[in-house]
Amino acid sequence: MPSSVLYHGADYNPEQWLDRPDILRRDIEMMRLAHVNVVSLGIFSWSMLEPEEGEFHFEWMEAIIDRLWAAGIRVDLATPSGARPAWMAYRYEEVRRVNADRTRQLYGMRHNHCYTSPVYREKVKIINQQLARRFGHHPAVMMWHLSNEYGGECHCPLCQRAFQEWLQRKYGTLDHLNRAWNTRFWSHTYTDFSQIESPAPHGEGAMHGLALDWRRFVSHQTIDFMKWERDCIREILPGAKVTVNMMYRFNFINYYDMAKEIDLASWDNYPTWHKPEETVESTALDTAMMHDLIYSLKRRPFWLMESTPSATNWQPVSKMKKPGVQLMSSLQAIAHGSDSVLYFQWRQSPGASEKFHGAVVAHDGRADNRVFVETCAVGRALEDLAAVAGTQKPRQAAIVMDWENKWALEEAQGPRNCGLGYWDEIMLHYAALARAGISIDFVNEDSDLSGYRLIVAPMLYMLREDFAAKLRAFVKGGGTLVFTYWGGVVNETDLCWLGDAPHGLVDVLGVRRAEIDGMFDVETRRCVAVTPDMPAVAHGSVLCEVAALEGAVPLMLYDEDYFAGAPSVTVNRYGEGRAYYLATRFEEDFYGPFYGQVCAGLLSSVWPGELPAGVLATRRDRYLFLQNTASSPVRVGGDTIDKYGTAVYLEEESGLRRIF
Ligand code: GAL
Repeated sequence: MPSSVLYHGADYNPEQWLDRPDILRRDIEMMRLAHVNVVSLGIFSWSMLEPEEGEFHFEWMEAIIDRLWAAGIRVDLATPSGARPAWMAYRYEEVRRVNADRTRQLYGMRHNHCYTSPVYREKVKIINQQLARRFGHHPAVMMWHLSNEYGGECHCPLCQRAFQEWLQRKYGTLDHLNRAWNTRFWSHTYTDFSQIESPAPHGEGAMHGLALDWRRFVSHQTIDFMKWERDCIREILPGAKVTVNMMYRFNFINYYDMAKEIDLASWDNYPTWHKPEETVESTALDTAMMHDLIYSLKRRPFWLMESTPSATNWQPVSKMKKPGVQLMSSLQAIAHGSDSVLYFQWRQSPGASEKFHGAVVAHDGRADNRVFVETCAVGRALEDLAAVAGTQKPRQAAIVMDWENKWALEEAQGPRNCGLGYWDEIMLHYAALARAGISIDFVNEDSDLSGYRLIVAPMLYMLREDFAAKLRAFVKGGGTLVFTYWGGVVNETDLCWLGDAPHGLVDVLGVRRAEIDGMFDVETRRCVAVTPDMPAVAHGSVLCEVAALEGAVPLMLYDEDYFAGAPSVTVNRYGEGRAYYLATRFEEDFYGPFYGQVCAGLLSSVWPGELPAGVLATRRDRYLFLQNTASSPVRVGGDTIDKYGTAVYLEEESGLRRIF
C-alpha cells in the first residue's frame, strides 16, 4: 500500500453467507470494483466463533481474512462483545443488563450487557485473546474495532456496588459527599455508602448531584470496560492499534475521556438527507459539526466508520440519498478531517432487523445499480485524494461542548423544564462560524485553550473554578470570548455558585445576571440594535436574562416586556482581549452578522474569496475543500462547482491549484 491512504470500505458480515461460496467470491470481486481497501470484520460474530462455551471455530474467519488479504484488502478486526451468544445469556444471568426500574432484561437485541459483570469480562477476555492470538499477526489485520457503539447503563447489584465504591474513591468520606450534594435538603443525609442507589423511576430522581455523578460513573464504567477489552488484546499484542465507533450527539459517554484511551477516534454518521423541513446545507452543517467534534477529541484525523451509501431502515422515513449526495457526504467527512469513508454495510443481509438497511451490494447483487456505481466513484475519489491522508486542520476557533455540563444542565429543574436544547444552542454558533469558513474545534473544561483566537462557551451552566480561571486568562491574554445566558451557574457537583453571576466572569464580561425569565415555545422577546453592526431587530427565546451592566458596552437591548431597555448583547474589553455576552437565544439569522462583527480583524475564512450561499469551505494543511450543498451549480473563484459537487485545491507558491 502507498504510504498515504484514504480508506474505503464497510462492515462486512460474511458469517451470514458461509453456505454461499459463490456470494463470498463475488464479494471480493465487487470490493475490487468499488476500490475497497478495508473492511470491519467480526463485529457481531460471537456465536459463530464460539457456538458453545469453550468451543471455538476460527477456520471460516481465517479463510475470509486470507481471501481479503490476497485481494489487497485490510481488516479492522472487531471484538465481538456488542452481542453475545444465547448460551451465555442463559447460563450467566449477570451478563444481562438491569433497567432503571430494576428489571433484568431477557436475552435479545444487542448492546445490552453489564459492563461491571466479572463473568462477562472473563468471557470477553477469552474470546478477545483467542482472536488476538489467531489473527493478531496476520498482515491484513491493521486495527482492532473494540466492540460496537458502546453505550447504555446497567442498574444491577454489581453496578450499584461499583457505583458506591466509585463514590467512596471520589469523595473519601460521606461527609464530603453529603456536602457536595447538599443532602440536608429533603432529609437525604446518607450515613452509609451502601444507602446510595442509582436514579430510579420509583426511587431517587431529584438529587441532582447524585444524578450527575451517576452519569459520570456510567461513562467511567463504560470506558473501564473498553479499556479491559483493549488490554486483553494488548496483553497478546502489545502494539495493537485500537478504535471505537462513536455516535451522533451521544449522551452517555464523555467521548473526550474515551478518546484518550484509544489510538484513533471514529464515528457512525447517519443523517437523514432531504428532510422536508431542512435544507441540504443545514443537514450538511449538522453532520459537519459532528465531524469536527470527533476530530477535536484527539485533534487529529479520525475515521468515518459507518455511513449508509443509500438509506437507513430505522429512521421515521428512510430517504434515499439523491444522486451525487453520497459522494458529497463522503467527501465532507474527508474535508473535515476523516481519513476514511466506510459504510454499514457491505452486503444487505437476507433476514432479521436490518434486511432493508442500505448496503453497497443490495439484494439484487448487481454492480450496475446506482448505489454501487456511486460507491465506486467514492472509491476513485479517495484514491485521487490520497495525499490528504494524515493532514491537520488549522486552529482558529473553539466551541466549548462539555458532556458533564450537558448532564448537569439537563438534570436541573429550573427556569425552563420543557427543553433547553444544548445542542441546538451550540449549532447556532457552529453554523454561523462554519458558513463564514472558520475552522472550528470543540473543547471541554479540561482542554488547553492555547492556540485559539476565539472561544465560544454556550450555556456553560456548570462552570468549574479552574475553567473560569482559564477563560479569564484567555481573554486577558488577547483572546475573544463569547459567553451566553445560563452560564456560570453551578460548580462541578451542581451546587449553585453564591454571589454575583456568571461566576468568576463578571469583570471579564462587564455584566452581572440579575434575573432570568423562561419563555414558552411560542414566546419571543424583541431586541433592537444600538450599533449598526448588529441586526436591526432580533428575537430572544428559550431564556431571557436581565443583566446589569458592569462596564460592558451594550450592542442590543430588549425592546419589550418589563425588561425593555436591558442589554441582550454586550461587549467588554478585558486585558488584551474582548468578551461578548448573549443574554438570550436568538433566531438563526442573528448569528451570521453577530459573528461577522466578532471575527472582523480576528479570524478570516480558510477560503480567500467570497463564499456563495450554500458553499462550505474547510481546510486540511495545504488542501482547501469547497462543497456546494445547493441543488444547482455555482461559480466560485472562477470555477464552476456542480450541484452537490466538491472542489479541492492545493495551495502552492503560485496560488491555488484545483486538484479535484
Ligand atoms: C449502527 C450500528 C450498525 C448498524 C447501523 C445501522 O448504529 O453500529 O451495526 O446497526 O447502525 O444504521
